[in-house]
Amino acid sequence: MTSRFGGRTAIITGASRGIGLAVAQRLVSEGARVCVTARKPEPLKEAVEALGGPEHAIGIPGRAHDPEHQDAAIAATVDAFGGVDLLVNNTGINPVYGRMVDLDLDAARKIFEVNVLSAISWVQRVYRAGMAEHGGAIVNVSSVAGTKPAPESASMAPVRPCSATSPRNSRSNWAPGSV
Ligand SMILES: NC(=O)c1ccc[n+]([C@@H]2O[C@H](COP(=O)([O-])OP(=O)(O)OC[C@H]3O[C@@H](n4cnc5c(N)ncnc54)[C@H](OP(=O)(O)O)[C@@H]3O)[C@@H](O)[C@H]2O)c1
Repeated sequence: MTSRFGGRTAIITGASRGIGLAVAQRLVSEGARVCVTARKPEPLKEAVEALGGPEHAIGIPGRAHDPEHQDAAIAATVDAFGGVDLLVNNTGINPVYGRMVDLDLDAARKIFEVNVLSAISWVQRVYRAGMAEHGGAIVNVSSVAGTKPAPESASMAPVRPCSATSPRNSRSNWAPGSV
């Protein structure tokens, strides 16, 4: 274990498996303490165990785009570990494939809610929870489909660039420049 992230605390959303869990494992291996989230409580408990138990990780179940869940996860992280230094907005859904001209707009609204608006809401909340004062780092996981054509998932084309570029666009908001 290295201490690159020693004394730092991270929230990683959508992290009971896959890329989110791998990010959490790496951060813990480099000294961070983490809060991982996902909808299903049981896999989340298993993820916390895999991350080394409550000394290193807590798991808060909920839907990533639910503001009450966001507040609960941030409050639990501050309570357990003293603050939030890193946010990894990893949750992303991709329930529809196919051509954009065939896209069900109700599905598109849900995708925007979970993949884009939710990520913005998490950013706002960690900012208000302390990053505005002590700085920190935010990573929004997107997809290569946001930067180049992906014909098989063309219905996602309007969403991916938003989740890829919104952090870049919001950099100017991060006075005094430490986020
Ligand atoms: N894997 C790829 O090839 C690939 C390619 C391009 C982009 N990405 C992006 O990378 C990120 C991670 O992908 P992945 O393949 O690692 O995903 P994954 O293996 O399917 O894992 C998804 C994680 O997110 C949780 N989750 C799903 N929906 C959620 C919701 N609404 N609220 C809270 N948690 C939720 C899942 O747990 P529960 O089911 O219990 O909620 C699980 O922990 C996503 O943003 C994805 O779009 C992945």
